[in-house]
Amino acid sequence: MRTRLGNKIIILDFGSQYTQLIARKIREIGVNAKIYPYHIAQNVITGENPNGIILSGSPKSVNDAEIITPSFNVFELGVPILGICYGMQFTAKFFEGKVINDNRRREYGRTNLRLFAHSPLFAGMEDNKIVWMSHGDSIKVMPTGFELIGKSKTCSVAAIVHKKKQIYGVQFHPEVNHTEEGNILLKNFAVNICKCRTDWTTANFIKTNIDAIRKQVGTDKVICALSGGVDSTVLAVLLHKAIGDQLLCFHVDSGLMRTDESKTIYKLFKENFDMHIEVINGQEEFFKALKGVSDPEKKRKIIGKTFINLFEKEAVKRADCKWLAQGTLYPDVIESVSVNGPSQTIKSHHNVGGLPKKMKLKVLEPFRELFKDEVRSIGRELGVPEWFIKRHPFPGPGLGIRVLGAVSSEKVAVLQKADDILLDELHKYNLYDAIWQAFAVLLPVQSVGVMGDERTYDYTCAIRAVDAVDGMTAEFHRIPYDVLDAISTRICNEVRGINRVVYDITSKPPGTIEWE
Ligand code: XMP
Repeated sequence: MRTRLGNKIIILDFGSQYTQLIARKIREIGVNAKIYPYHIAQNVITGENPNGIILSGSPKSVNDAEIITPSFNVFELGVPILGICYGMQFTAKFFEGKVINDNRRREYGRTNLRLFAHSPLFAGMEDNKIVWMSHGDSIKVMPTGFELIGKSKTCSVAAIVHKKKQIYGVQFHPEVNHTEEGNILLKNFAVNICKCRTDWTTANFIKTNIDAIRKQVGTDKVICALSGGVDSTVLAVLLHKAIGDQLLCFHVDSGLMRTDESKTIYKLFKENFDMHIEVINGQEEFFKALKGVSDPEKKRKIIGKTFINLFEKEAVKRADCKWLAQGTLYPDVIESVSVNGPSQTIKSHHNVGGLPKKMKLKVLEPFRELFKDEVRSIGRELGVPEWFIKRHPFPGPGLGIRVLGAVSSEKVAVLQKADDILLDELHKYNLYDAIWQAFAVLLPVQSVGVMGDERTYDYTCAIRAVDAVDGMTAEFHRIPYDVLDAISTRICNEVRGINRVVYDITSKPPGTIEWE
């Protein structure tokens, strides 16, 4: 009977900030996981034929006047269920338990989990390990048919089970790294309880997708816009493996790239993969469009639009192309449920991937179900060199948003030199791989300095280096003073136009990683 199941776990998202993390952790175990909003229709879920369902956490309370609930009775699907935080409280309320908001029982951060009774959910886990809590509500009266299996110091009901119905609930978050044995718990649920096979591997993904792409595309030609970033690069390599010369790659040289970036990309593709790649020189168009514009949002929009215009111009010449390949990732596809209204736009992000709406091309998006680190693993498996995979993230608008204020080719050239020196020193001191992202910013601030016996009145360069996991939050990296000294000395000595270097010690929040 099990073989008929879809071999996957479905996560119903009630708006927790950790929902994507649950999916990633399940995938790391080797089991496919998909996220749907909590209000999704029943036929979509039954169509997926899941082995089990996880109900996520939520910023909402089950005691709110308008409780958020799935559109159908998930407990009647006949598959095992795991409720996490809100998911557990929702389960408790559904089965006539009582959930209260008691200020004395609020728990945020680490606590120790006491395994109160034996359960397959806890197989291989030790008693008294640290788990991560984040809740104001807790269960006061046990739901009907459930047993208590875990407690913590402040939370008398930290884990429950309905043995007959195979419904589990945990108050803590097994998906966060701070929960010491969270991975074991998720594996127990997905593999032992839901009987999922652990065959969600990169090798499997590549094989299945190569077959699928060949079938989908047939003898048609496909175009792919290469930014030089990891996603579009790995996408191009996968497509090339599937359809060879039917793939046409374009790279737009905006003049806003790092030194020799376009040459590096061209070389990578030619030397490593012998692929068809064309570099479109768009430097003139970009600098012309950006002339005199200093507002960050306007600059971002101009750069995005110029990319699209140039790409369209080239693509319409290729009437034989029927497909546009895009490196869209899973987080771009499933906007996490916003139960508190739409979030504010901080920056208009631009990616070369998200291209022309006007063009009548069919869209090919093989990475729609993947996370960024999974794309990296696929890249490795496909032979993309490690130095390339490990490169720091680089924003679509490039140095256009790192030359603060109005952008000119002269200022970009100054910044390119400073940026080169920064990266060179980080490599020299073996710091590049320890830092998530590092770059130089050219400030529109001139100050007085002295070089030799001469007065200078030149620009200021800011150095930014941050530690992060996904770029959503970041801390400034503690670069040793000696290294900062070496960087600053070289930039002032070697880059005409810069006479002062400062180090950005702002975390995100309150700062963002890029300055614009
Ligand atoms: P912020 O500045 O928002 O950046 O803290 C978070 C991460 O996103 C990168 N970034 C971009 N990436 N297109 C991209 O592809 C963009 O428009 C863009 N803006 C910022 C940034 O470099 C950091 O890694």
